[in-house]
Amino acid sequence: MDNDFILVLDSGGPEAIEMARKLRNQRYYTEIMSLGADPALFERKSPRGILVVGENEKPFPRAALDLGVPVLALGGAARRMIEACGAVSEGVLLENQASQITFQPCPLFDQLSESDRYFTRVDGFALPDGFQSIATTLEGYSPAFADLGRRLYGLQFYAESNDPDGAVILSNFAEKICGCTPIWTIADFIEEETRFIQDRVGDGRALMAISGGVDSSACAMLMRRAIGDRLTCVFIDNGLLRAGEPELVYNTFDGELSLKLIRVDARERFMERLKGLTDPVEKRRAVYEEYMAILTEVGQAHPEAEFFVEGTIYSDLLVGGAADEVYARRFDPGKRLEPIRMLFKDEVRQLGELLGLPRTLTARQPFPGPGLAIRCMGEVTAEKLKLLRHADAIFREEIMLSGQDKRLTQYFAVLDDTRTPGRRDGQYTREYACVLRAVTEQGVSGYTVGKLPYDLLDRVAGRIIAEVPGIDRVAYDISPCDNTDIEWG
Ligand code: XMP
Repeated sequence: MDNDFILVLDSGGPEAIEMARKLRNQRYYTEIMSLGADPALFERKSPRGILVVGENEKPFPRAALDLGVPVLALGGAARRMIEACGAVSEGVLLENQASQITFQPCPLFDQLSESDRYFTRVDGFALPDGFQSIATTLEGYSPAFADLGRRLYGLQFYAESNDPDGAVILSNFAEKICGCTPIWTIADFIEEETRFIQDRVGDGRALMAISGGVDSSACAMLMRRAIGDRLTCVFIDNGLLRAGEPELVYNTFDGELSLKLIRVDARERFMERLKGLTDPVEKRRAVYEEYMAILTEVGQAHPEAEFFVEGTIYSDLLVGGAADEVYARRFDPGKRLEPIRMLFKDEVRQLGELLGLPRTLTARQPFPGPGLAIRCMGEVTAEKLKLLRHADAIFREEIMLSGQDKRLTQYFAVLDDTRTPGRRDGQYTREYACVLRAVTEQGVSGYTVGKLPYDLLDRVAGRIIAEVPGIDRVAYDISPCDNTDIEWG
């Protein structure tokens, strides 16, 4: 798609991803880059326009102003842009306050005349030469300015979630100011990426590890569309999956979807590797290393497959994983294919649906790579895994029966390593305690604790204690997600 896209420069916080997704939802293609990246990269990328977003006090990338393409800076970035152009703040005029705003006629505000907005902060500025105010609040302040000649725009507010005016401003910027075309659709992506994969792989063969998660499943479907049965999927059963999951993955891929699938039963190898480990960080590392060792062996056993496919998605790249470095050392990057690396999670789901992935896979909960090893506190033993799987299955079943699964992003059981006193069949016991955790997505990248009905929790606790000898206590984890991780290990 040549350079028909907007480059979003991220100075930290969730806003950049939100804006990039908002534009993509309106079919304008976007890519995200850190504000601190080498400015030479901005030029090499050669976007049609640049959006700078984020509240962090990072210096504004002046290089972005000299590329000759339009720039829109939002929130704190707008203040730093005008400062980079020579203005000095005359102080804060509005702080955490709503006001009505009147837009002056200009391409950015096409179709808009006024709107109610919430301002986190508006500063006063004596505008440098070339800049003019392009909007006024009820109080007479100017929260938006532009150098129309250089096509530089600064808005001291955001295009917030569910804000139709914000969506209009973003699409005006993309289309009317930068000249972008709304061409980004997942259907077109499928066509383009299929051709790209076919060019790259030629008559070759590819191997791809699948976990049964949405990303690797959707990626496998795309690869299969491109190279048919020259794709072989590898499913490593590490013995750390939830009850029924290995069967679901195997039956769906090998049966329903007729993908060529190798199943590696590595349950004993992982148990052996995890023996004696109690620290979650060590357990995570052990699972990852064992997984990589097995993949390497599978690769060596299939020398005919010269390509290795990974289901990396955009958020994995934006977070930037250390895992990637380890991986790069083991596999020749020239042979790596990452066909969905530029897609956001919602786009990956859409891709999966368009390519016929069943809902049992597209609607699955996110599940950590190290699996139950990090939900089983202390040393991972076969006995503890059995208890955990059973309790987790009961919790999942009751959540599904109650319909709560529709509002929860993740819900699972954790087995604590503590033994607590109880009674079973008239005998005193000292069995394990189990913890339930349920969270729901809030905003772009936030989570909040699922407020489950008490009756439901009561039923789940009763069933776990009655049906799982070995667990005699059940707790519900209500720690807010801001400072407490979703996972226990
Ligand atoms: P935390 O516990 O960090 O989890 O709040 C955030 C989300 O990431 C998932 N998670 C993982 N996913 N590999 C994964 O693929 C991992 O190692 C991993 N650890 C946590 C977690 O389940 C939650 O959805």
